[in-house]
Amino acid sequence: MSAMSEPVTSKTYDVWSWFYDRTFGRLVKVRQARAIQHLRAKSGDRVLDIGVGTGMLLPLYPRDVTVVGMDLSSGMLAKAALKRAELGLEHCLLVRADAMLPPFAPASFDHIVITHTLSVVSDPGRLLRLAAKLLKPNGRIILLNHFQSTRPVIAWFERVLNPFFVKIGWRSDIALEDVLSGVELQIEYLFKVRPLDLWQIIVLTHSKSGAPRREIQAAARLSGGAGLAGLGAAVRGELAVQAGG
Ligand SMILES: C[S@@+](CC[C@H](N)C(=O)[O-])C[C@H]1O[C@@H](n2cnc3c(N)ncnc32)[C@H](O)[C@@H]1O
Repeated sequence: MSAMSEPVTSKTYDVWSWFYDRTFGRLVKVRQARAIQHLRAKSGDRVLDIGVGTGMLLPLYPRDVTVVGMDLSSGMLAKAALKRAELGLEHCLLVRADAMLPPFAPASFDHIVITHTLSVVSDPGRLLRLAAKLLKPNGRIILLNHFQSTRPVIAWFERVLNPFFVKIGWRSDIALEDVLSGVELQIEYLFKVRPLDLWQIIVLTHSKSGAPRREIQAAARLSGGAGLAGLGAAVRGELAVQAGG
């Protein structure tokens, strides 16, 4: 059973929007910057930032790409719109939409960025499946998230504390292998900014058809493991964005 639900999450993050940057935002700022260093965007590329939040990443994107920041919470988006206006980030568009029902055509984006949002949606595996569809065949997904520890004692605490974390807006019990199960994406590489960090940065690409499951599992264990790049089938489509903010 899902622990998160979009209607509740939307309201929770409307509240978070008032103090997000000064609290959780401060804690994760360095990792966000490190994640964006792995974007490898070319001029004219389209980037989708799923769960853009207060727009903390917006100033970090190159100005010669188009960024679409999507979020469910109007409170979080209002803060992002403020940053966009204050910093003159005209290359960033903001869209209020549910990532579980994304309003874009397949293969619309060259890059997808998902930071701290996988553990916030009702179905993280479905979010990745939808993101894979929105990604162009050679595209990459940059994921920054906390995943359940592979150490049993820590994983136990993460499961026990999960109901508390759900109340304040995210899950602490999602396992990387579970969310990747049935998703046509493979890990190109992954790493932690610090060895004991709670968060991981993971670069995903489309799977070669039938990429062996054990390779994904091995990559998940080997932080910073070798690339498994490949292509998957994707349908080309045109970007259909309702710009806001
Ligand atoms: C923890 S915040 C992360 C914000 C930002 N990515 C960052 O790293 O600072 C999670 C964000 O995901 C948004 N979110 C949660 N569920 C969503 C959904 N189904 N569709 C779109 N956005 C969603 C929340 O409103 C919130 O702004």
